[in-house]
Amino acid sequence: MKRRNFLKIAAATLATPALNISRAWAAEPGAPLPIPEVMEIGPDAGNTLDAIRGTHEFIAGAPSETWGYSQDYLGPLLRFRRGRTANISVANRLDEPITAHWHGMHVPGYLDGGPQLAFGPGETWAPELPIDHPAATLFYHSHVHGRTGPQVYRGLAGMIIIDDPEIDDPLPRNYGVNDFPLIVQDRGFDRSGRMTYNLGMMDRMHGFRGDEILVNGVIRPKLTVPAGLVRLRILNASNSRVYDFRFNDGRQFYQVASDGGLLNVPLATTSLQLDGAERAEIVVNFSDRSPVSLVSHDIGMGGMMNGGMMGDRGGSMMMDDRGMMGDRGMMGMAGNSGTTLDIMSFDVGETAPVGPASLPTTLPADAPELGDPVRRRDFTLNMHTGGMMRGMMGRDGQMMGINGEPYIMDRIDETVRTGETELWRINADMMMRHTFHVHGTSFRVVSQNGRSVDPARIGWKDVVRVQGPTEILLRFDKLASQETPFMYHCHILEHEDAGMMGQFTVT
Ligand code: C2O
Ligand code: CU
Ligand code: CU
Repeated sequence: MKRRNFLKIAAATLATPALNISRAWAAEPGAPLPIPEVMEIGPDAGNTLDAIRGTHEFIAGAPSETWGYSQDYLGPLLRFRRGRTANISVANRLDEPITAHWHGMHVPGYLDGGPQLAFGPGETWAPELPIDHPAATLFYHSHVHGRTGPQVYRGLAGMIIIDDPEIDDPLPRNYGVNDFPLIVQDRGFDRSGRMTYNLGMMDRMHGFRGDEILVNGVIRPKLTVPAGLVRLRILNASNSRVYDFRFNDGRQFYQVASDGGLLNVPLATTSLQLDGAERAEIVVNFSDRSPVSLVSHDIGMGGMMNGGMMGDRGGSMMMDDRGMMGDRGMMGMAGNSGTTLDIMSFDVGETAPVGPASLPTTLPADAPELGDPVRRRDFTLNMHTGGMMRGMMGRDGQMMGINGEPYIMDRIDETVRTGETELWRINADMMMRHTFHVHGTSFRVVSQNGRSVDPARIGWKDVVRVQGPTEILLRFDKLASQETPFMYHCHILEHEDAGMMGQFTVT
């Protein structure tokens, strides 16, 4: 027991970057949560997203150079209505190619904003999007091959809400009143408090992780909520960091939606794990009026190894009774530091509660039947497709891959036919934890690590954690050509940029 405690302390000391000791700033929590401006996108022309440079003071007195879509950092909340056509034009006022990818949206390949649709400085891309997606919380971001990590990090990202006029949304839905977007990201800052994106060897391997957590672009903000039910739409827009959100008083809340839209029933829980690019909508009851914080464990690199994720055990587990080489793997020392990260705080205002006073027992989830698969495809996510050292040093940036091949834009990896249900089986080499994201459709998770998954608890997904063999069931009804295929990839942005991505046509 003694030895174990000692090792824990030693590991925690090692895991603390020296930077923290010498830095000349301290983040001040408690600034009000900014609520992104809404841009309703309908059939009329005139809605423009300008990709621009800006400056943003994450740390008071230390302006960072940032990018945004029509803002200094991040972009407006885009609101689309199902069944309607949406016209949007995206102008590139930066000095490198960008895209605007509608992550999670069911649109054909030529409208999807993937890497093939990159457009250069001074150019404008003006897609006309037929909105054919159930009510959901989605994500938009730039998706230039090899540059997605730095571009999203700088700020080219935002949230999308799809409304479905055909359903009667029984949940809190007054935007900015009892329905709030929370875009969660981690960022690193240098000694003077300016945002940095420096990839060390560990970041190249496991994905970038920063020490400070932002919500809607602000470090540890505060939100004043009404004393009733409040809906939080949480998007993990971090490059790689994983969160297991919970409240510091352990209160129960309800998950009501995942990536692709509403669940069948509200799911009572006390913690919510989101990998990069995953979304969840939760409903929290604040009628007890007590202030509370949203927190997460600081899930370290050990947590990025297979079997390294914490479940409800939490805490500091890198030195368990099996010792360092237990199932936490060789990265155990840099595992979960045991630290709790404060994400943001809530206090309850004087305004009378608005919206529903209770949750319905069932939700109007979208429920198309997928049926039995007619085909199976296997994907192995590879940490290196060439020389190990070359990959780790990142000298050519294209060392990772899928099924032995790094991504190449003019190679089509798979051809899929519309309307045919398929089973995709995803695996990873080197015991690494990843995610798998598919463009163009939403899927069901069938099993993870050989255990079957109850679709009602997970809902419709477009990103799934891969921590062992993972099976998903999916079907496409949007087309994607050879010129503008759909992508599948790990959504750890540094893995994606290093080539862990493939592409497919749908004909
Ligand atoms: Cu979030 Cu291929 O995208
Ligand atoms: Cu996507
Ligand atoms: Cu990965």
